[in-house]
Amino acid sequence: MVPYVKKNFILVLTIVLFSFVVSSSYANFSMMVTKDEIDTICTKESIDSSICYELLKPISKFATFDFSDLVKFLIKYQSRNVSDAMNQIKLSAGNATDLQTIDLCVELYEDALHDSDLSLKALADKKYFDVINKIIGLDTVISTCTDELVQMKPRLEVLIKRSNVIRKIPSIIFYILQCYLAKEKTKC
Ligand SMILES: *[C@@H]1O[C@H](CO)[C@@H](O)[C@H](O)[C@H]1NC(C)=O
Ligand SMILES: *[C@@H]1O[C@H](CO)[C@@H](O)[C@H](O)[C@H]1NC(C)=O
Ligand SMILES: *[C@@H]1O[C@H](CO)[C@@H](O)[C@H](O)[C@H]1NC(C)=O
Repeated sequence: MVPYVKKNFILVLTIVLFSFVVSSSYANFSMMVTKDEIDTICTKESIDSSICYELLKPISKFATFDFSDLVKFLIKYQSRNVSDAMNQIKLSAGNATDLQTIDLCVELYEDALHDSDLSLKALADKKYFDVINKIIGLDTVISTCTDELVQMKPRLEVLIKRSNVIRKIPSIIFYILQCYLAKEKTKC
């Protein structure tokens, strides 16, 4: 099995985390999300623009969303996707030759759902550092499953594609946390 930790991802996130340690906890919750801000978010280099717009465009119609609501929405959306992917993995078991991979992925996706719940709780408590940590955990377990799935025969293409889409969501969440909810807007 591949190592649980994705080194380059962790490295990048360590930088993000550092700025969080320094800057979290003075957020301005009265700030509503504007269409311009959604444009700013979705055109960032680190973010997949088409997925970002697909997720956030409908939001610009709800004037009552602040950035915390937005993060909550994204975490819940991602969680539903994880849950759907897990169900699909379970259904694939009937066709698969490699039940070990299937079992591993089901277990990993259960972990991801647990992390997702914890991240929502941390968000409600305004513990943004913890939110980041849980989302990193979630992303790591999903990528671990994907690494196993790509080696499995027959390849479950739909599932691989799906998990690659799910993995585009954390960078949007990180950007909003870092640039709108943290006190000091570093690297934005
Ligand atoms: C919070 O946001 C409101 C509305 O945009 C703004 O008027 C206020 O100055 C902000 N407060 C801080 C502390 O940034
Ligand atoms: C994620 O969930 C949303 C809403 O439930 C759904 O419309 C979308 O197709 C899902 N995407 C993936 C990649 O599962
Ligand atoms: C299992 O394989 C059959 C035949 O290739 C296919 O029609 C079916 O959709 C597959 N089921 C799942 C859950 O992947």
